[in-house]
Amino acid sequence: MTGQGCDVPASVVDDGRMRDVLQVHGGLPLHGEITVRGAKNFVSKAMVAALLGESPSTLRNVPQIRDVAVVTGLLELHGVRVVADAVAGTLVLDPRNVESAHVADIDAHAGSSRIPILFCGPLLHRLGEAFIPDLGGCRIGDRPINYHLDILRQFGAEVTKRESGIEIRAPHGLVGTKVSLPYPSVGATEQTLLTAVRAAGITELSNAAIEPEILDLINVLQKMGAIISVDTDRVIRIEGVARLRGFEHTALSDRIEAASWASAALATHGDITVKGATQPEMTAFLNTFRKVGGEFDIKDDGIRFYHPGGDLRSIVLETDVHPGFMTDWQQPLVVALTQAKGLSIVHETVYENRFGFTDALVGMGATIQVYRECLGGHPCRFGQRNFYHSAVISGPTPLEAADIEVPDLRGGFSHLIAALAAKGTSEVRGIGLIDRGYEDFQGKLSALGAEFTHG
Ligand code: EPU
Repeated sequence: MTGQGCDVPASVVDDGRMRDVLQVHGGLPLHGEITVRGAKNFVSKAMVAALLGESPSTLRNVPQIRDVAVVTGLLELHGVRVVADAVAGTLVLDPRNVESAHVADIDAHAGSSRIPILFCGPLLHRLGEAFIPDLGGCRIGDRPINYHLDILRQFGAEVTKRESGIEIRAPHGLVGTKVSLPYPSVGATEQTLLTAVRAAGITELSNAAIEPEILDLINVLQKMGAIISVDTDRVIRIEGVARLRGFEHTALSDRIEAASWASAALATHGDITVKGATQPEMTAFLNTFRKVGGEFDIKDDGIRFYHPGGDLRSIVLETDVHPGFMTDWQQPLVVALTQAKGLSIVHETVYENRFGFTDALVGMGATIQVYRECLGGHPCRFGQRNFYHSAVISGPTPLEAADIEVPDLRGGFSHLIAALAAKGTSEVRGIGLIDRGYEDFQGKLSALGAEFTHG
């Protein structure tokens, strides 16, 4: 089977209205066991890394999510043969016939993902040129790509903005450089890695992001033949090499999905064992989960998350880059915080606009006020800039069923949790967005005893 078909679940490929709406009959605790596979935010980058090899790569533990289907499509447009075994979770990526894609074809993918920006380094090495359409991704802030373009220029690329997107060329090849990031951006760190591994000479990246997904990408690149060291203080050094080969790798598991189900267990008074969840990548989440009053048992093959009874406790929380509390964990946990006793404060420091999803929660009976000020923590770069990036949640407040529209991937999952926690029947529209990053979430909900029907 080729990757284009990719055996994605029906709801991923069928955007029909019926499939896009769920009637959730809430108020039941979620109980049971589910499995998470590879991390969305690693798998998509490892797929791009395969472009750099001179032989095929094999990636295991790949989830069936729409972002994987999108990257598969983009790779195929560039001549990469992708063979997927969706059930086993294996992708074989053969980059031996990489070619330029038609601008219009790449453009057809615009709006569906931010991954195209990471194709630049590998394509510049393979073909000397790359074209990037307008970028999509979640509506959680401006999400600019200025760091990426500055980095590519530093390596010697010529960047030209055209009406349909951005054209990037490297007529004289790419040369290692010193990059100092203004902020430890995940994507900009990956951009530097994917470009530096085959650039001539040494690249030194300071103020790098060191998320576990990035360290696993470094594992992949080292398997391919790259020379990369991660020093203390967020400094990564890369010695460029002339050739890279394919890799075989099993993706690290999705700690965002695991934390999302953990928050669902807490908000619904439930008990969910997440097979595949791992402790080291979730330390900050587990500490916070415990402070709120949730319990967990770490096992060899996963983590059991549960509400032990009694009151949940309010907390003060600040999102941050790794090793801090991930921004992507924030939205699902906020739903559980509506059930905690007292005033919780959440300061979002990664994105300037990630509290839009709380409007729907307020409509369901939550008491949440958002503020422009940096509350409950250190001043951050959004403090003086009119962004509503702090939230105060007063609880506990019973949630009531409502009709809600999914705003973005993580906000969407949070709405789903709210609907599951609320008494009565909620209508959740736009659930297709959730398929971007949550594998078979409807199957998992059924396995956990959730009651829902397609509206
Ligand atoms: N930023 C810039 N300029 C840039 C790049 C980033 O100003 O050129 C800013 C962003 O606007 C943001 C901050 O830097 O305020 C951090 O962005 P970062 O580059 O770290 O994020 P990203 O690489 O675009 C990835 C994940 C996100 C996750 C963030 C932070 C992928 C595909 N996406 O995004 O995941 O929130 O890192 O951990 O890996 C999600 O999974 O729902 C999701 C949004």
